[in-house]
Amino acid sequence: MLRRTILAASRNHRVRDLVAGAPVSRGVVARFVAGEGVDDAVRAARELETDGLTVTLDRLGEDVLDRDQAAATVHDYCEVLTRLSDVGLTQGGRCEVSVKLTAVGQAIDEAMALDHAATICRAARDAGTTVTLDMEDHTTTDSTLGILRALRQDFPSTGAVLQSYLRRTEGDCRDLAHAGSRVRLCKGAYKEPETVAFQTASEVDRSYVRCMKVLFAGEGYPMLATHDPRLIAVAQSLTGPRTDDSYEFQMLYGVRPNEQRRLAGEGKTVRVYVPYGTEWYGYLMRRLAERPANVSFFLRALATRS
Ligand code: FDA
Repeated sequence: MLRRTILAASRNHRVRDLVAGAPVSRGVVARFVAGEGVDDAVRAARELETDGLTVTLDRLGEDVLDRDQAAATVHDYCEVLTRLSDVGLTQGGRCEVSVKLTAVGQAIDEAMALDHAATICRAARDAGTTVTLDMEDHTTTDSTLGILRALRQDFPSTGAVLQSYLRRTEGDCRDLAHAGSRVRLCKGAYKEPETVAFQTASEVDRSYVRCMKVLFAGEGYPMLATHDPRLIAVAQSLTGPRTDDSYEFQMLYGVRPNEQRRLAGEGKTVRVYVPYGTEWYGYLMRRLAERPANVSFFLRALATRS
C-alpha cells in the first residue's frame, strides 16, 4: 500500500514541487545520488573503481517532453563519456552509461529517441565502453525493445533491462538470451497493473529465479541487478559451468555498499549504478518506495529540520 502511494506520488507534479523544493530533500538525496554535475559523477566512478567495482552512470532525467531538453541530455551523456575516457575509466567497459529512453524523447518521437540513443552509443563505442537502456513502465516496453533491436545492428553490445514483475519477462529473457546479448535483470520499480505484472513479492521473486535460469542457460551476458540476499545466493547456485567473468551483479549507489565490496572481494564483477544530475525526484521516490525504512529516514530528516 505504502509502495503504491509513493509510486503514485512519483508521477504527481504537485507532490514533486513540494518534495523537490524542500531544502532537506538534498541531504536525503545525497545518500542515493552522486551529485549534480559531471565532476561529481566522475569522482564517484573513480572512487568505486578504486574499490574494485565497475560502474554504470545514469544522467538523471525522465519523461522529457521538450526537444531541446532531450538534445541537452544527449550532449551531457557525450560529455561525461569523454571525461571518463580522458581519465582512463571507460576501457574494457569498466565504466559504462545507462540511458532512459524517455529522457531522450521517446514520448515525443520514437525515431528521434533512436537517433539520440545512437549518438550516445557512438560516443560510448569511441570511448571503449557500452550503453544499457534502462526499462521504464510497461507502456514503454515494446518501444524500448524495438529501439534496442535497431541499436544493436550498429552497436551489438547495447544492453537491455528486463523486469521480473512483468508477466511477459520470462519470454523476453528467452528472446534475449543469445550470444553477445547483455541483459540486466531487475525486479522492476514502477506501479504496474495486475493485468501485466505480478503483484506479490513472492511471485516477483519466483519469476526472477525463472528468468535467471533462462539467462544463465543461454549464451548472453546476464547482469543480475538486485540487493536481495536470497536472490544473490540463488544466482550463485545457478551459475553452473559459467566463469566469474561471464556474468555480473549490479547494485544501486548507496544501497548495501558493504555487500558490493564483499562480492567484489570474492572475485565477482559488481557494477554500481550511479545516478547524477538535478532531476532526482522520480529516482528518489522509487528508492523510497522500495524500502519503508527509507521513508522513515526521510521523515526523520524533515522533522529534525522543522
Ligand atoms: P528488494 O526490493 O526486495 O530488496 C531486497 C533488499 O535490498 C532489501 O531488504 C534491502 O535490504 C535492500 N534494498 C533494496 N532497495 C533498497 C533501497 N532503495 N534502499 C535501501 N535498501 C534497499 N528498475 C526498473 O524498473 N528499471 C530499471 O532499468 C532498473 N535498473 C536498475 C539497475 C540496477 C543496477 C539496480 C540494482 C536496480 C534497478 N532497478 C530498475 C530497480 C529494481 O527494479 C528494484 O526496484 C530495486 O533493485 C529493488 O529491488 P531488489 O531486487 O533490490 O529487492
